[in-house]
Amino acid sequence: MFKQLQPAVKDPILSLSFAYQQDSHAQKLNLGIGVYRDEQGLTPVLPSVKVAEKYLLESQQSKAYVGLAGCEQFNAEMINLVLGDNASRSRAVGVQTPGASGALRLLADVIKLANPTAKIWMSDLSYANHAPIMKTAGLEVAYYPYFDPLTKTVNEVAMLETLSQLGKNDVVLLHGCCHNPTGADISFAAWQAITEMAIKSGFLPFIDMAYQGFAVGIEEDAAGFRYLAERVPSYFVASSCSKNFGLYRERTGVAIVASNNLAESECIKGRIIECARSTYTMPPDHGAAIVRHILQDETLKTQWLSEVTEMRMRILNVRSLLVDALKEQTGTQQFDFINQHKGMFSVIGTNKEQLIRLREEFGIYIVGGGRINIAGLRETEVPYLAESLSTVFK
Ligand code: LMR
Repeated sequence: MFKQLQPAVKDPILSLSFAYQQDSHAQKLNLGIGVYRDEQGLTPVLPSVKVAEKYLLESQQSKAYVGLAGCEQFNAEMINLVLGDNASRSRAVGVQTPGASGALRLLADVIKLANPTAKIWMSDLSYANHAPIMKTAGLEVAYYPYFDPLTKTVNEVAMLETLSQLGKNDVVLLHGCCHNPTGADISFAAWQAITEMAIKSGFLPFIDMAYQGFAVGIEEDAAGFRYLAERVPSYFVASSCSKNFGLYRERTGVAIVASNNLAESECIKGRIIECARSTYTMPPDHGAAIVRHILQDETLKTQWLSEVTEMRMRILNVRSLLVDALKEQTGTQQFDFINQHKGMFSVIGTNKEQLIRLREEFGIYIVGGGRINIAGLRETEVPYLAESLSTVFK
């Protein structure tokens, strides 16, 4: 049965944690997988999450099934969080999913059902799991120009030029904020231009919103997407609670669909649920129950928002300390772009040889392509990282 089976290709992000654990280097740093760490090096359970868990422990009466779409109150709260009071809310529906990866996959499945020849366009570079998810769903994958390795910013001219040539058969995957892996986000003007193009040519915008609250703020980070949502006939969103609620292992996410009208959105939702039923039936409840409780309780929501702010401010602080330390170490401003990047990550432009040196000589683990998880770096670790980077960049 399995004689012809080839071994799995190692996941470029998840495999790093294992290699890091085996490493005996005294000052080793795991800057691979995107998890937030505090100044103690811990990925804490947020205090607001603890309060919600306590509430659930005391109030939950049953572990009976919730339903194929997961918890509808959670779905509604997530739609509010992502959309705010956006006019498209009246035609938006949600399905709770196991993380945003689950949402990406179910939304890809329904695109394939609706249009087997649809092509999905993603940014070059993009999240390492985007292409595998889309390809496993049977979609053809193509790339639009995105990251300029010289300026470490988005080449919006080239990006928009490619998107302007797309049509009804195309799906455009966009990062809502905090682009993974580069940290380079598109401008509001680019969101406006993409909106005009989607209206004119009919491509489907598909937004991956995995880091809402980690760039500027919960509302601010959704501004570009909300501009688009209000104007285009249809859009898809995959949103995650892994980072902003710190619920990584609870696999909590939502797939949001808005089509021409509510009836059409409900039809798409029905097909998404059908895909879920034939895969895992329904999503795990715990994480969604926590999020629902936090978002429905005004006091707890305020507390959670301040915890998100605390995480964001720590990341911003570490970014600026790293830039200063690199300035001092290299005597140049070549790494100043790190301060302009948003969210957890920055692509710093290491080549393969530099990546290997960082790992073998310094015990520093970053994702291939040169993605550093700034959110996993402590203030005390900044000098070591800056010194190591300046050595391999010499
Ligand atoms: C990452 O990009 O590191 C995270 O989103 C974790 C993952 O699932 O890859």
